[in-house]
Amino acid sequence: MKNNIADIEKEALDQISATDSKDALEQVSIRFLGRKGVLTGFLRNISSLPEDERPAAGKNANLLKIKLEKEIRTAEADLSARDAGPSAGIDVTLPGRPAVKGALHPITQVMDEICGIFMRLGFDVAEGPEVETDYYNFEALNIPKYHPARDMQDTFYVSDNIVLRTHTSGSQPRVMEKNEPPVRIISPGKVFRCDSDLTHTPMFHQVEGLMVDKDISFGDLKGVLTTFVHQFFDEETSLRFRPSFFPFTEPSAEVDIRCVMCRGKGCRVCSKTGWLEVLGSGMVHPAVFENVGYDTDKYTGFAFGIGIERMAMLKYGIDDIRKYFENDVRFLGQF
Ligand code: FA5
Ligand code: MG
Repeated sequence: MKNNIADIEKEALDQISATDSKDALEQVSIRFLGRKGVLTGFLRNISSLPEDERPAAGKNANLLKIKLEKEIRTAEADLSARDAGPSAGIDVTLPGRPAVKGALHPITQVMDEICGIFMRLGFDVAEGPEVETDYYNFEALNIPKYHPARDMQDTFYVSDNIVLRTHTSGSQPRVMEKNEPPVRIISPGKVFRCDSDLTHTPMFHQVEGLMVDKDISFGDLKGVLTTFVHQFFDEETSLRFRPSFFPFTEPSAEVDIRCVMCRGKGCRVCSKTGWLEVLGSGMVHPAVFENVGYDTDKYTGFAFGIGIERMAMLKYGIDDIRKYFENDVRFLGQF
């Protein structure tokens, strides 16, 4: 008989981990826990120990018994799992669960479509930064500090001279500083304004356009934008050029599209006018050309900035611009 519980424990655990069949495990169990087993023998012989050692020896032997029973059950479960193999419990003939398929956000889809139309018209893509300097967002575009025209756009300032760009127009001077005419670019991206209602969100998307060359006229502007609108919607879509003001274009025009929600009758989306403004445009102001060092006697050009959310509202009949950004899959899943 072994007198030392620690020795018994070590030997039992070694044997349990060495077994590789249930039969062998059963033998180990009998050897240590059976009626004639090592532990039972140990307990039976406790009376031969000095009296003061008996209580502790009895307690430790019982604890070891519980521990070994548990180890054996675990080893048995491991052996069962091993014998069953990896496909145990899986019916390989059942049909699989379909993977949930995602989709591009409707704004991304419309953005891609709009860029595609202009690229087919010969425009290149030139992206600008979303965090922009006051210079490119305003000054280079003929909007000096403290000029009332700054109130047209409610600006998020990062610091005195850094803003979240309020429009994509800052791409105009950025591109012209680096390239001589002819220039023909579009610049898509996110813009930010402190603004929120049915037709305004604090973050929205624009696609800027700029074309500069000799002999570019307002007729070219109208032609390009009309072609664009007809390709994006259809040939029947009514648009109108409405005289407007931007410090960086002269003359300037905003383009409105017949409201699809009320078919021009007037509703809350078009503020009862029957038209929804989708873009600003105009002939590039000579002051902007001077800021980038272009010869104003030689070159003319036009520019425009399209509001993507508005275009998508009209295309899909969406009556509240804020729905784009509520992340409700019941809405987004329809596109
Ligand atoms: C501009 O941002 C000028 N940079 C456009 C421009 C470019 C003019 C080049 C001339 C030459 P405006 O603030 O009107 O203009 O905005 C242009 C379009 O963005 C609007 O017609 C509208 O479709 C959209 N838009 C403006 N504010 C919001 C807003 N808060 N939420 C959603 N769309 C908006
Ligand atoms: Mg406007």
